[in-house]
Amino acid sequence: MTAFVESEALRGCWYPVASAGLVESPADQAHAVRLLGHNYVIWRGPNSELIAAPDRCPHREAPLSIGKLEGGVLSCAYHGWGFGADGTCVSVPSSGPGAAIPPTAHLPCVKVEEKYGLIWMCPGDPTTTIPAIGQEDDPAFRRINTPVDSWATSSPRLVDNFMDFSHFPWVHTGTFGGAQDPYVPKIELSQLDDEFFGYQYEVEASNPDEAVAVSGSEEDTVHRVMTTGFALPFCVRSTIRYDDGLEHILLLLTTPVDDLNSLFTFVVWRNDDHSTDPDEIIAFDLAIGAEDKAMLEQVPGTLPLGRTGVVNVQSDKPSVEWRRRFAELIGFTG
Ligand code: FES
Ligand SMILES: [Fe+2]
Repeated sequence: MTAFVESEALRGCWYPVASAGLVESPADQAHAVRLLGHNYVIWRGPNSELIAAPDRCPHREAPLSIGKLEGGVLSCAYHGWGFGADGTCVSVPSSGPGAAIPPTAHLPCVKVEEKYGLIWMCPGDPTTTIPAIGQEDDPAFRRINTPVDSWATSSPRLVDNFMDFSHFPWVHTGTFGGAQDPYVPKIELSQLDDEFFGYQYEVEASNPDEAVAVSGSEEDTVHRVMTTGFALPFCVRSTIRYDDGLEHILLLLTTPVDDLNSLFTFVVWRNDDHSTDPDEIIAFDLAIGAEDKAMLEQVPGTLPLGRTGVVNVQSDKPSVEWRRRFAELIGFTG
């Protein structure tokens, strides 16, 4: 199978590559990022603006991410060429002050944005936008960010997992899955809003002591109405509604480092009274994510995209639909 990361269509999409806090201003270090099999450097320029470019000095190809950052100008570690706003080469020390700078010395920058506490990159010409989460501007909700983690698994496997709830009573027995009936009723898929496509379902979730901060209930089990949907290529939103009106929205964000490795982070919005320590709230979700990670990192290779590579049953309907649309997006014909 051709590497999916080589798909031209994926270059036009946005991917979270770092926590916004990692690329602080002022900073004395640039940040290296690997996305779709290519290396990039990110830093904040002279006006604290984000700059992202291939991690390759145009002079002799040294990685710029190991250079020195001062006042927003990134100096290459090899011969000291300096790069400032918009990736413009502003100095070539060996040529002396005032010497002409070759036009090809400027960096071919790529699109970069800050949103939802994350740095997002689009390595090509954008054909999509970062999904809109209305709760970001709703004062009843607060946002809680979690670290950007590296997972030794393929991005399609992550999305396949997030669109599937038949694994809950098997993989998530250490957290919320133990009380769930393994039987999955018929799933109806629909367009949830402008961007997300998915389904709604209800589960009885175990509610151990560690879950009390997140569920707001002290009962042994809690009833959850869940809505889970995807926005291509790798974004999944899962909304959990508890019977008392508490809403907990998870934006599950997967970034393909290459065909077999991913970055993963999730962002939470919730309409609680904002009093509980955010670390306590996300501890349970992080434990759930660790269960998925432990499972997925044992599954070899990337997810087969053809019709016959794996066996599907009715509970796989949402992930099969994601896979069908993803295969279409990247022009997979195998
Ligand atoms: S390789 Fe960067 S300045 Fe020479
Ligand atoms: Fe899971």
